[in-house]
Amino acid sequence: MKIAVTGKGGTGKTTLSGILCHLFKEDGYQVLAVDADPDANLASALGIPLELAASIRPISEQRQLIQERTGAEPNQFGQLFKINPTVADLPDAYSIEFQGIKLLVMGGVKKGGEGCACPENVLLKSLLSEIILRRDEVVVVDMEAGIEHLGRATAQTIDLMLIVVEPGARSVQTAETIMRMGAELGLKNFGIIGNKLQNDAQKEWIAKRYQSDMILGMIPFDATIQEADLLQKAPMEALQPDLKQNLVGIYTNILERTGDEHGI
Ligand SMILES: Nc1ncnc2c1ncn2[C@@H]1O[C@H](COP(=O)(O)OP(=O)(O)OP(=O)(O)O)[C@@H](O)[C@H]1O
Ligand SMILES: [Mg+2]
Repeated sequence: MKIAVTGKGGTGKTTLSGILCHLFKEDGYQVLAVDADPDANLASALGIPLELAASIRPISEQRQLIQERTGAEPNQFGQLFKINPTVADLPDAYSIEFQGIKLLVMGGVKKGGEGCACPENVLLKSLLSEIILRRDEVVVVDMEAGIEHLGRATAQTIDLMLIVVEPGARSVQTAETIMRMGAELGLKNFGIIGNKLQNDAQKEWIAKRYQSDMILGMIPFDATIQEADLLQKAPMEALQPDLKQNLVGIYTNILERTGDEHGI
């Protein structure tokens, strides 16, 4: 199963991705967590200790690898390079494993615009496509707000794109843009997760913006989640029983929506 998590900046994509990875793992799935946000911090949301997290070098910063696979130097334009580099071995070779969850940190391409055809971008795009199209595990991709870098074939193979929204017009607007762009790429299955809700009025504010079957869950604003971030602990470990139950409910909705049979 391939799940992408997206939404406006700061809405809780990484927090949700980290928790979902642990819930899938607890339920007996093999999990590959993919950090596809240039500002990578999924490691901390998985509870990976700082020293181990610090040892991760994102794929986009592996100059030698980029050169070896594409035949060209990163950060240079106007070169000839392979547009179909070999990447099938990379998820295993370059991921780290923590508590049974594999994490692959993609890193980001900083300059040149979204569509930049530079070697590192081509490698990252091929790698993401390889992971979504061919890996057998549950894959949870923590993305940035934009989905421009998803190719059509990759987008169409994503089983579910979760969009995290918080109570606020801008976050809803970003969600609309994502859905429009996703639909243009052939993505069919979207699920809304409301997050950081402070009261019922905020819940309703979100609920009335979507058809009810679009909404896969609502997560309250929770001080222990925020605190976990301050203490660099996994949000999963910080969940109080009620909140954990809420998240297990979301997890179950995700399984139902994707037609999977497991369940905690
Ligand atoms: N339900 C919640 N209650 C309280 N705080 C939350 C909740 N969800 C997320 N947060 C906090 O909000 C902040 C942003 O969360 P997170 O990093 O998961 O968002 P993001 O969408 O991945 O952000 P970015 O766009 O920067 O990648 C973090 O400090 C996190 O602990
Ligand atoms: Mg994030």
